[in-house]
Amino acid sequence: MPTTVIVGLQWGDEGKGKTTDFLAEDVTAVVRYQGGDNAGHTIMLGEEVFKLHLVPSGVLYPHITPIIGNGVVVNPATLIAELDMLASRGLEVDRVRVSKHAHVIMPYHIALDGAMEARLASAAVGTTRRGIGPAYADRAWRIGIRMEDLLDGPALRGKLARILPEKNATLQRQHRVEGFDLDELVTLAAEWSRRLEHHLADTTQLVQERLARGEHLLFEGAQGTLLDLDHGSYPFVTSSNPIAGGACTGGGIGPLQVDEVLGVMKAYATRVGAGPFPTELTEEIGEGIIDRGREFGTTTGRRRRVGWFDAVPLRYAVAVNSVSSIMLNKIDILSGLDEVLICTAYEVDGHRVDWWPSDADVLARAKPVYERFPGWTEPLQDCRSMSDLPDNARKYVDAVERLSGATIALVSVGPERHQTIDRKPRPLRPRPASGLGAWSGPALGSAGR
Ligand code: IMP
Repeated sequence: MPTTVIVGLQWGDEGKGKTTDFLAEDVTAVVRYQGGDNAGHTIMLGEEVFKLHLVPSGVLYPHITPIIGNGVVVNPATLIAELDMLASRGLEVDRVRVSKHAHVIMPYHIALDGAMEARLASAAVGTTRRGIGPAYADRAWRIGIRMEDLLDGPALRGKLARILPEKNATLQRQHRVEGFDLDELVTLAAEWSRRLEHHLADTTQLVQERLARGEHLLFEGAQGTLLDLDHGSYPFVTSSNPIAGGACTGGGIGPLQVDEVLGVMKAYATRVGAGPFPTELTEEIGEGIIDRGREFGTTTGRRRRVGWFDAVPLRYAVAVNSVSSIMLNKIDILSGLDEVLICTAYEVDGHRVDWWPSDADVLARAKPVYERFPGWTEPLQDCRSMSDLPDNARKYVDAVERLSGATIALVSVGPERHQTIDRKPRPLRPRPASGLGAWSGPALGSAGR
């Protein structure tokens, strides 16, 4: 039984929700390992559309345990609202598990995110203003509040009493915005605790027990490789590690427990927020792709920037994620174009560059070198095998595969699960022995509740 990590190979919004949905039948748990409610997954289930920010998309399947791992930053208000929304639509949500060690996004994190963006003005990152960066910063600074802290009111009051004066001083003196009242925060935390207590667990133990039982788990990345704090176009990145390695730190598994890394990408590129985007399309072709592809953010509603497919960061993403195979989404959106372009290299200051220069200043000067492909007019939504695709669309997929250096196993031609072409088998890595397989200590099982 494999452990699969699903990872975005571009700037997020690659359609990872659909990929999770496609694999859901075979897995027993779906684990989110980083990010927070800055993410947005849109999943279509028959006629119904679900928009999720925090709860892993596996929640739509009764046999799946959705797990929010320790690497996620949790806004409890969003989580409660999402659980209520799912319950009101008939889904059983008691099975959702949240790591006791996940950090809490506090109201002052959200205020600081917005205030900092306003202060940066034209140099702003274009964050989702959900408090993600400040919450991760406090985690690294060791002054963060973890989910388990919500359970102990008096201890939490003590922690907040130490942290809040500095947060309020920054908000009031530097940014000229209102601060927060200690009593009100403690009351709010008590309410969150009451609602979420029975969801909290040691999710690393939970994950390891399941792996020892030979279950198939899926680790679901949010955002994408090019927004990775270390490997993306810093500083125009998010504050966590969406790359596959993030599943280890944020999901509680070791690197050799990953059998498969399924990279997800779209047949073109999109980006939300600020930062360099070498293949950006600002003219009519771009407008058409935005409209046909409904490229508006699930979380902020912002119109996404759109561009030609860029193989330079793709090669990089395949390498830093050790991608074993790829799911190529939304190729149907490219129907109707006379020609389709793929960027194969950059020209920077007169030199050819083949390796992704993650430095934002270098990227801003990068001019794309394109390979051109003839387009196709036929709609692709009803294609179910590669032989159903028009010749030129097939050639485009072959070119993307050649340029990426990884197998394109799945090709998606529409938002629904059945609109997926099984192009090639997905290779798995041989699995090393699991430490827990030979467990001889006390019975495990308390973490699962
Ligand atoms: P933050 O994660 O809200 O701090 O935003 C940092 C950058 O990541 C901004 O450019 C956001 O637009 C971008 N970002 C964050 N989450 C997502 C996502 O789920 N999809 C696409 N871009 C995202």
